[in-house]
Amino acid sequence: MLQDKNIIITGAGSGIGRATSELAASYGANVLCVDLSDAVDQTAAHINAAGGRAVAVQADVSDEKQVADYVAACVAEYGSVHGIYANAGVGGGGKPMLELSVEDWQRTLGVNTIGVFLAVKHTVPLFVEQGNGAIVCTASVAGLRANAGGVDYSASKAGVISIAQTVAYQLYGTGVRINAICPGLIETGMTKPVFDAARERGTEGRIGQINPTKRYGHPQEIGEMACFLLSERASYVNGQAVPVDGGLSASHPWAFPRS
Ligand SMILES: NC(=O)c1ccc[n+]([C@@H]2O[C@H](COP(=O)([O-])OP(=O)(O)OC[C@H]3O[C@@H](n4cnc5c(N)ncnc54)[C@H](O)[C@@H]3O)[C@@H](O)[C@H]2O)c1
Repeated sequence: MLQDKNIIITGAGSGIGRATSELAASYGANVLCVDLSDAVDQTAAHINAAGGRAVAVQADVSDEKQVADYVAACVAEYGSVHGIYANAGVGGGGKPMLELSVEDWQRTLGVNTIGVFLAVKHTVPLFVEQGNGAIVCTASVAGLRANAGGVDYSASKAGVISIAQTVAYQLYGTGVRINAICPGLIETGMTKPVFDAARERGTEGRIGQINPTKRYGHPQEIGEMACFLLSERASYVNGQAVPVDGGLSASHPWAFPRS
């Protein structure tokens, strides 16, 4: 599906980014794995050991110079960039609204929203010049509706959805597509505390029960959507925020069936 495509994936040191990197490589992509953490080295090593092609770059996605540098590293390593999955994110800590400081907001928006914007800003010129390119961003169901994160996190993800919608039109007629994925609850590094606490309480079986698929999701299930959207198979999908959430966001409020 991504044979010989040169793809940048951020947040590749853990969770959804790591799973998507491995999946993209298995679909034939050359992957530039980006993360703040040196865990990204393990992602690239794992892909290369499995016969794929990956390079790890440690960078902060909220720092414009470092974004320009990771894009340049992809060109230097693979010759071009065909797609980017701007996925790195932070949870924000879920503080109550009145406890949130301006610094908390700046940290959350800096990574989740500005990090996505910078990924767009520094790949679009290449994509427009070559007449094609695919941008995928990770938003969240928290960006669609309430109750899936703090105010800062939810607003940061609503911002990502808006970036996908508005940038799609700013790229009118260029051949470049942009879409966002809205994951539901996925077991990753970010949600580990939720899963750990539930396992400790013995309530793990209740996680994910409010969606009609009746379970939580796995990072690979987001990775499959990301690889599809990055590929030419998604050639007519543009400007969308696609929920991958077991059906959670399909409903009006409802009474949870307690049998
Ligand atoms: N796990 C879920 O339930 C869920 C649901 C909806 C959306 N998301 C989103 O999915 C994306 C991936 O998160 P995940 O769940 O895999 O969590 P994760 O914590 O396992 O992975 C996030 C990765 O992003 C990296 N990162 C954080 N800040 C960075 C920065 N400034 N620069 C570079 N890398 C940075 C981290 O080091 C980490 O490796 C995030 O955008 C998150 O908001 C997750």
